[in-house]
Amino acid sequence: MKPIYLDYSSTTPIAEEVQVIMNKNLNDSFGNPSSIHSFGRISKVHIEEARQTIALTIGAESSEIIFTSGGTESDNHSLIGTAFVSKRKSGKNHFIISSIEHHAVIHSAEYLKSLGFEYSVVNVTSTGLINLEKLKKLIKPETFLISVMYVNNEVGTIQNISEIGNICRINGILFHTDAVQAYGKLKISVKELPIDLMSITSHKIYGPKGIGAIYIRKGIEIDSLIHGGSQERGKRAGTENLPLIVGFAEASKLAYSKLEIENIRIANLKKELLILLKPISEVIIQNSIVENSISNIVNISFDSTKINIDGEALLLNLDLEGFALSSGSACSSGSVQASHVLLAMGRDEKTALATLRISIGRYTTIEELKEFVSALLLIVERIKK
Ligand SMILES: Cc1ncc(COP(=O)(O)O)c(C=O)c1O
Repeated sequence: MKPIYLDYSSTTPIAEEVQVIMNKNLNDSFGNPSSIHSFGRISKVHIEEARQTIALTIGAESSEIIFTSGGTESDNHSLIGTAFVSKRKSGKNHFIISSIEHHAVIHSAEYLKSLGFEYSVVNVTSTGLINLEKLKKLIKPETFLISVMYVNNEVGTIQNISEIGNICRINGILFHTDAVQAYGKLKISVKELPIDLMSITSHKIYGPKGIGAIYIRKGIEIDSLIHGGSQERGKRAGTENLPLIVGFAEASKLAYSKLEIENIRIANLKKELLILLKPISEVIIQNSIVENSISNIVNISFDSTKINIDGEALLLNLDLEGFALSSGSACSSGSVQASHVLLAMGRDEKTALATLRISIGRYTTIEELKEFVSALLLIVERIKK
């Protein structure tokens, strides 16, 4: 049996159309974009076209897009780059993140703390939404930035980006959002939304790995983290990886050209999946609230008071049967740690450890979902015995 992939939020396969463009680029344009000869000029044109394509998908200007190596670097750069400027220019050294951020944000925050910065963490409700009143109370005169993710990668909650951004605007604070799980799935207009910095990545939208970008609103100062040449308007040194950049642009164009139709298809699949999962509903807790979460993620926990089940063992069993999924837990120092996202949402540790994230995507079919639920039912029955 062909393995069935239900882990599209971890990464996606490169779309065929993207591969074609990347292969062509690998053959055609090897020139260094910084060279003034024709080979370099051709590469430079390709980079600027790609930048323009990506800018258009979010209503930005191309000068507001900086290419990076992916979401992790974009998050690091947004937090650290603005922190350094802020401390130097205004002396402000406090920022706020949410309790459900990706580790790329959490660990950047911890790094900044080790350098003498301070940060506060805003909690979420049981559905994973930021508590806006609590957020307002955490703001201090020294706060320079708030970083809250657009869509959570484990449970799929979509935050109220507009309200959070407005709170930032009113208080003269920068707003960064990690939109890695939102970009290519939601319509995002930086013209309409009060976002100052936004992280995006290519490999979640059927583009290549190792390439992403930051949207940096015009006029915002940010230090470079990588020093050298004057590439990316002096904000990120190093010869650009052209095949990845053109692949990312093609993937972005494709995602946004199919957005509406694909979102309807995926939302229907999610609905069907929830219906299929109902027969085991007595042992399932829904962690993704349908109205407030992205269509491609379904996150379920097994109720620890009803069944003794371990998410990692479940994943291994599913893998043996040919199904690729993930749980929110992480393996650290040889032991499995419960997901910080589910704990922040108030789940107890045992329930958080008995979790599965099903993430569907462009190539998922209803038949695949039916096969998955049948296999899950059998495995659960086996474990119950
Ligand atoms: C919300 C979120 N932020 C950041 C990242 C990191 O992105 P990348 O893998 O491109 O470094 C991920 C990837 O899993 C993510 O889901």
